[in-house]
Amino acid sequence: MSICELLSASRHYGSGPTLVKALDNFTVTFEPGEFAVLSGPSGSGKTTALNLIGLLDTPTSGLVKIDGQSTEGLSSKALTEIRGQKIGFIFQSFNLVPVLSAVENVELALHLSGLNPKQTREMASESLTQVGLGDLLDRRPNQLSGGQQQRVAIARALVKKPKLVIADEPTANLDSKSGNQVLDLMRQLNEEHKATFLFSTHDPMVMERARRVVKILDGRLLADETQGV
Ligand SMILES: Nc1ncnc2c1ncn2[C@@H]1O[C@H](COP(=O)(O)OP(=O)(O)O)[C@@H](O)[C@H]1O
Ligand SMILES: [Mg+2]
Repeated sequence: MSICELLSASRHYGSGPTLVKALDNFTVTFEPGEFAVLSGPSGSGKTTALNLIGLLDTPTSGLVKIDGQSTEGLSSKALTEIRGQKIGFIFQSFNLVPVLSAVENVELALHLSGLNPKQTREMASESLTQVGLGDLLDRRPNQLSGGQQQRVAIARALVKKPKLVIADEPTANLDSKSGNQVLDLMRQLNEEHKATFLFSTHDPMVMERARRVVKILDGRLLADETQGV
């Protein structure tokens, strides 16, 4: 069973002369365990597509399926529930809470999961240890480098062991060395957790790191290629 599918999905903004087809009749399917990139220039529709797959937005027409389940017509509460259970997010700008420590930022993802504080702390610490930050648990974001902050974000995305991890331009705010380390880590976690990693980029160097490259231009599917890496 596929982990996520966009089926003839469109997302239009505005109408008449201001109509923007951010995504236009886009069909793509990802299988469990994939390490795939969505690539295209700025404005091509990457974020729009990832927001639909991540259930942060709904299509103007077409269908989004997660783990075999159609999400059509679901309430925002139901969508939030699926998101919480199955999807982890990593953002370009890390999106960490500045006043919280690394471990507290990761713990936020476990909020409402019914675990006691001790269990929560253990799971968050373990997740940070996995991304190589086991000895920086108490640092706040401004006491960490960009690459380290993105590692905290990765730990937060993975702490609930989601089937699908979505990363929108995760290396865009990093220098190439830190960006490569983040990609190495994502790939390692992809292999260990068997979670599907779906990330976006407009950087050809980053694109080369994916096993599958889905190219998007003007909201349309341009190419879908598997490469041997
Ligand atoms: N909320 C919005 N309102 C109007 N147009 C939007 C909105 N969000 C995105 N767009 C437009 O949709 C297109 C695709 O945007 P986006 O998905 O952000 O591209 P990318 O992530 O590849 O840079 C762009 O032309 C953008 O201006
Ligand atoms: Mg974008």
